[in-house]
Amino acid sequence: MFWEETPRPASLFSPQESKTYAGVKKEALECKRCHLREGCSQVVFGVGNPSGSLMLVGEGPGAREDELGEPFVGRAGQLLTRILAAINLGREDVYISNIVKCRPPNNRQPSPQEMEVCMPWLKEEFRLVKPRVLVLLGATAYKGLIDSQGKITRDRGKWIERKNLLIMPTFHPAALLRDPRKKVPVWEDFQKIEKALKS
Ligand code: URA
Ligand code: URA
Repeated sequence: MFWEETPRPASLFSPQESKTYAGVKKEALECKRCHLREGCSQVVFGVGNPSGSLMLVGEGPGAREDELGEPFVGRAGQLLTRILAAINLGREDVYISNIVKCRPPNNRQPSPQEMEVCMPWLKEEFRLVKPRVLVLLGATAYKGLIDSQGKITRDRGKWIERKNLLIMPTFHPAALLRDPRKKVPVWEDFQKIEKALKS
């Protein structure tokens, strides 16, 4: 995965080592590399602190995100904002993004191909933000970035250690809305995240 690549291999697209965050974002907002763009109203790029220690990755924009052009602003997003506040972090302190930047039709899960085509954007975000802690929100981000056969229910809450990076898979906030029993495990996961950020 991209956090292990030293030095980074040639990008799938043009070499972007010298690109700034603003430059990458501008390019991403014009992306038409896959058919998802035809079915959505806009590309939803990451938001927050582009040099934050904590980066969170979800699945993809939903209806509200597609409308407003910002990740995690619908019901699940508002819950994420409250979870972050509980560990004294504002949305502006962290960097929040998604594995795909365009809303899949009817909020279906992005396909492995769609995730792959979109991955260079996440890669660039990761390269520019250089987080110390990466939180994977839900099964799609976990499977897409760590282990396609992984099980979020089994693997959440356990640190995955990489060079200069700690990765924490946890439940997606939308899963918490469907099943409040997931709140306690997620709370525990974010306690670990808070501790890691302070160490
Ligand atoms: N769910 C996600 O995975 N991402 C968003 O941006 C919103 C909801
Ligand atoms: N299903 C779950 O139970 N949790 C997630 O985070 C994603 C899918």
